[in-house]
Amino acid sequence: MIDLTGKTAIVTGASRGIGKAIAEKLSEAGAKVILIARNEERLKELAAKLGNSPYFTLDITDREKVKEVFKEIQKQYDIDILVNNAGITRDNILMMMKDNEIESVIDTNLKSIFYVTKQVLRKMLKKRSGRIINITSVIGLMGNPGQSNYAASKAGIIGFTKSLAKEIGSRNITVNAIAPGFIETDMTKDLSEETKKAMLETIPLKRTGTPEDIANAVLFLASDLASYITGTVLNVSGGMYM
Ligand SMILES: NC(=O)c1ccc[n+]([C@@H]2O[C@H](COP(=O)([O-])OP(=O)(O)OC[C@H]3O[C@@H](n4cnc5c(N)ncnc54)[C@H](O)[C@@H]3O)[C@@H](O)[C@H]2O)c1
Repeated sequence: MIDLTGKTAIVTGASRGIGKAIAEKLSEAGAKVILIARNEERLKELAAKLGNSPYFTLDITDREKVKEVFKEIQKQYDIDILVNNAGITRDNILMMMKDNEIESVIDTNLKSIFYVTKQVLRKMLKKRSGRIINITSVIGLMGNPGQSNYAASKAGIIGFTKSLAKEIGSRNITVNAIAPGFIETDMTKDLSEETKKAMLETIPLKRTGTPEDIANAVLFLASDLASYITGTVLNVSGGMYM
């Protein structure tokens, strides 16, 4: 069994879906988990469920607030594991895509990862240990019509992950990405039955993924079992992308 007792993790977008499952999984393994998301009510509920986990209401696209909150967090806690999970979709074909659909997706999914990761890096570098796990998507690897904004943001995360892994590997900090396939969450619940059926046909394991499938991969990458893995993109998609 993986034991993360004594470790402290931060999970962004922890209020629901994949982020919530990741927070629960890391907490079950013994880590102290600091929860970040925008919805205070949900965060509060999850924090109580996990035994009074610290939580912070934060919009990760608000750079000044990110600095402020992470400063506050690091006064109190020493971060071992950062999971950059928060993300959004604003799907549209490019011809119809509005400026705010381009900008909000790139700001939330990609730019925020630079600013959030920078906040924890100094201390990790000093400590010469750390785990950074970025949630990308198979869409960043394979593209998808109607998701050029989302695919670009997720492909950007992969470039970021590999570059940072090279930059800081010598300090014993690993940086990896996980590429989920089709996972049942609020993000995918509004897809039409027809789209879901078509997607299911492309999955060799013939089922959609669960948030727990992704949380299991995060747990592995956060653990000592993955100490020689960095710069990788772990595809957790039931074979949807290979
Ligand atoms: N569901 C899927 O099929 C799937 C597939 C591949 C990748 N992903 C990725 O997994 C991650 C989680 O997705 P999910 O399916 O759980 O989605 P979700 O919509 O259920 O949850 C997203 C979480 O991110 C948070 N969030 C969004 N914008 C934020 C902001 N500006 N500041 C702070 N928090 C913010 C939300 O509050 C929420 O907690 C995302 O990065 C998503 O792109 C999901």
